[in-house]
Amino acid sequence: MKFEVITIFPELIEDYKKISIVARAIKKRLLQIKAFNLRDHTFDAHKTVDGRPYGGGAGMVLKADVLSRAITSVLKKVSKKEKTKVILLTPAGKVFSQKEAKKLAKNDRLIFVSGRYEGFDERISFLVDEEYSIGDYVLMGGELPALVMIETIARFVPGVVGKEESIQGESFSKDGKNSNLLEYPQYTRPEVLKIGKKTLRVPKVLLSGDHRKIEIWRADQAMKKTKKIRPDLINKQW
Ligand code: ADE
Repeated sequence: MKFEVITIFPELIEDYKKISIVARAIKKRLLQIKAFNLRDHTFDAHKTVDGRPYGGGAGMVLKADVLSRAITSVLKKVSKKEKTKVILLTPAGKVFSQKEAKKLAKNDRLIFVSGRYEGFDERISFLVDEEYSIGDYVLMGGELPALVMIETIARFVPGVVGKEESIQGESFSKDGKNSNLLEYPQYTRPEVLKIGKKTLRVPKVLLSGDHRKIEIWRADQAMKKTKKIRPDLINKQW
């Protein structure tokens, strides 16, 4: 699957590509991630990408002419056969979720447009297929949201996540056994952990070797945790 990010900070995206599972998937040619510098599509000496909003008001607005040149230049590289979507990152977009990730993973190519100012000139909306927010908070720009979305979507690409890191049974995974519930608590060695005066033990049931009992315990823990932290998930329709 191919991801392209239009940004004024391509180095943020380039650095991310070097890390861990994503780097491995790129090497295996399962993923391709490319960053494009919005400033390469300016014509003035200052490489201006933003302007003051018509009608007044605080902040700057990303220019539609520069953005449209950047988007169309990336779109030119897309073959007709490739299922492609242009996605704008904005706190005013549809809230991204695991369900949205799964849907977007059906595309061959996603082109993300990250802003860094107060907003975008509305006239680029005709070049945009979807607007997404990663949550109800405001970041400095769309680069981290683009990476959050890429990482979440990439996990649905076959081969990116190995069996070890399987998405089965994870929180929010509808395919997992505990769909709609948060993941149960996990433990690893040591069995007895001393931190200061505290002695912390692994729950006995997990050491019992009784898989049926362990399954019941985990289901119960997942339910308790969800009721406490995210009761809204229990009757949620995905
Ligand atoms: N840009 C700034 N904040 C954002 C958010 N929460 N989601 C997507 N893009 C953003």
